[in-house]
Amino acid sequence: MLKMPSRVELHPLTRSDQDEFCTLVRASSELHRPWMQLPANAEEFQAWMGRFDDGTNRGFLVRVRETGAAAGMININSIIRGRYQGASLGYAAFAPSAGHGYMTEGLTTALHHAFTELRLHRLEANIQPANEASLALVQRLGFSYEGLSPAYLYIDGGWRDHERWAITAPGPWTPDPSLPEV
Ligand SMILES: CC(C)(COP(=O)(O)OP(=O)(O)OC[C@H]1O[C@@H](n2cnc3c(N)ncnc32)[C@H](O)[C@@H]1OP(=O)(O)O)[C@@H](O)C(=O)NCCC(=O)NCCS
Repeated sequence: MLKMPSRVELHPLTRSDQDEFCTLVRASSELHRPWMQLPANAEEFQAWMGRFDDGTNRGFLVRVRETGAAAGMININSIIRGRYQGASLGYAAFAPSAGHGYMTEGLTTALHHAFTELRLHRLEANIQPANEASLALVQRLGFSYEGLSPAYLYIDGGWRDHERWAITAPGPWTPDPSLPEV
């Protein structure tokens, strides 16, 4: 894994981030299409925020420490406990700050948070084979390729094949109390 970053920090996404978030999503439409669809207006944002209510999904903004600018977003989605102790990552840069290494650093922080504070054992990133920027990003972070999942997610009006990339917690790892003992 990469060394701990210094230029960015993660902030839990809140309903008060609505205007900033939607403005940045609208400014990023070319970067995000066709890989990612994020809420771009108040109505979509309010509906979308409901996914964070029960703790199954966690949402963060990646903020540049020096300026406070939101460089991107990261979700730790579909957290499953029991014998799985895993989750799935969603992420996108915002165009004004893309390509400066901020997402690499933000995701490094997100992995650290997931493995140490949330005590997850495994994180997945599911990526369409042609999404070169995202594939490069997870490889920089130390994810391993596990295989191709045909018609895995409904994106941009169709069921898209995705490559499954994953990383497990580095040792020593303290399990969450919800992990069965045997
Ligand atoms: C995938 C995505 C999040 C990557 O975001 P990004 O802003 O390009 O990510 P980073 O800036 O961290 O890394 C990209 C580049 O920054 C470079 N970089 C530039 N300045 C840097 C610095 N000071 N320190 C470290 N890296 C730096 C990295 O080396 C890398 O360059 P390279 O691709 O030319 O090798 C972005 O392309 C995106 O939002 N795509 C659309 C949404 C999407 O696909 N989401 C994922 C769905 S699976």
